[in-house]
Amino acid sequence: MSSWWKSAVIYQVYPRSFADSNGDGVGDIGGIRARLGHLRDLGVDAIWMSPWYPSPMADAGYDVADFRDIDPVFGSLAEAEALVAEAHAAGIKLIVDIVPNHISSAHPWFQAALASPDAPERDYFWFRPGKDGKMPTKWTGEFGGTTWTQAPDGDWYLHLFTPEQPDLNWEHPDVRKEFESILRFWFDRGVDGIRIDSAALLFKDTTFPEVTDGAPHPFHDLDAVHDVYRSWRRVADEYPDRALIGEVWMPEVDRFTNYLRPDELHAAFNFDFLGCAWDPALMRACVDRTLEAHATVGAPPTWVLSNHDVTRHVTRYGRADTTFSFDNNLDGTPVDLTLGTRRARAAALLSLSLPGSAYVYQGEELGLWENENIPEDQIQDPMYARRGHTRDGCRVPLPWSGDEPPYTFTEGDPWLPQPAEWKDRTVQAQTGDPSSMLELYRAAITLRRAEPGLHAPAMTWLDGDPDVLAYTRGPDFACVLNLSGGPIPLPAGTTPLLLSGPLDDGGLLPVDTAAWLRL
Ligand code: NOJ
Repeated sequence: MSSWWKSAVIYQVYPRSFADSNGDGVGDIGGIRARLGHLRDLGVDAIWMSPWYPSPMADAGYDVADFRDIDPVFGSLAEAEALVAEAHAAGIKLIVDIVPNHISSAHPWFQAALASPDAPERDYFWFRPGKDGKMPTKWTGEFGGTTWTQAPDGDWYLHLFTPEQPDLNWEHPDVRKEFESILRFWFDRGVDGIRIDSAALLFKDTTFPEVTDGAPHPFHDLDAVHDVYRSWRRVADEYPDRALIGEVWMPEVDRFTNYLRPDELHAAFNFDFLGCAWDPALMRACVDRTLEAHATVGAPPTWVLSNHDVTRHVTRYGRADTTFSFDNNLDGTPVDLTLGTRRARAAALLSLSLPGSAYVYQGEELGLWENENIPEDQIQDPMYARRGHTRDGCRVPLPWSGDEPPYTFTEGDPWLPQPAEWKDRTVQAQTGDPSSMLELYRAAITLRRAEPGLHAPAMTWLDGDPDVLAYTRGPDFACVLNLSGGPIPLPAGTTPLLLSGPLDDGGLLPVDTAAWLRL
């Protein structure tokens, strides 16, 4: 067993926006295969593919109509298999995204359930009579809005997301059997891991109470979910070196680590770190909390800065309020992109040098920022209508080369508009420029592989100014991140291995700059 997931750099491919090979303006597997060299040159260990299955795309593919095929907009199953083989040949593992909480309303199960109240498939979902002609509960959905839609026969069905994403009934043995079979389907095709969408949902309090302060939540993190992940772990363990990675949003650390017990998931995304403000005390506390919590279950920590659901971190770190919330996007807050970029560079050296595995969301290696200027009539994210917030600004197609959109992403019109200012952020423009974000990521990931200290199991804080995050890994490697109010000297006797930005004229490490050092 190589336990690769314990320290891997995992790159998230959002297939709609990576590269388009057929001119329809939407990225596809052909585009990913053609640009695999970018990921090889970047040096990542694995890629996680956001959903690529047949889907009406009510939620950009997180509404899956068939887990055993590929949507024609992305290509075919044969092309997916070819991508797995080509990635493996390039030394890159591949993780697919499985969405167990809900499926598409176009899925044959739901179609059968809708067609007749007596269909056996009806029990695969949550159909309930209304209360006094109204919906069974007043729950607020994950995208805002209500969680029940009335079927033509009068019953209501539950959907924690959009009406096109009916929730599955995980009490039903057929649902469990089906998903274990889906896992095997992809493991049999050689995929190395599964990213589990909305992993803490799945089960509901079947008495359907209202959400009440102080009472157990009726649909978040019910204990029964752990039994499902124990059975998934048994399936994964039938294959060598497969990993299960959970999307678990959970403020309570002990509830979070339950998912990472030795017979459950291998890893889960660290949203605590992603949401953390650019603040020395808060970041230090977050790192400590993360390391301590994961140690209790022997699971590898993960370090995540961005993904397809959140405001890109160049933008977050360029605002006065650097925390992440689903509601602080598109609110007109001024963004200093120079500052955000400087901090994002430093954050890369932090997240790539802490013990555990690190995630890179496509485009972060190019220093892309949130496109906050998507015209309203082009917004596709269903969250926008329900919650007034769109995630489309972080999902904009990648700029590859050239001076203007679509930057060879496509020969057609990209499905979301790209900023004209990205001409300096293309892969082509940054390649070979030692001051670029791309070359910083390439150098950091290369060093991460080669540097023995970065394989050491632990990190140790260095004493000193609390506004400077400084730690060693192994006997002769250190990382220093200056979050204080002014430039600081590097620790005596150290030599820089990699800097997120230049030292100042006096040889000092500027504010919001990080250094990897040889002790
Ligand atoms: C989490 C995914 O990351 C997000 O994009 C999606 O909308 C929801 N789960 C629902 O599947």
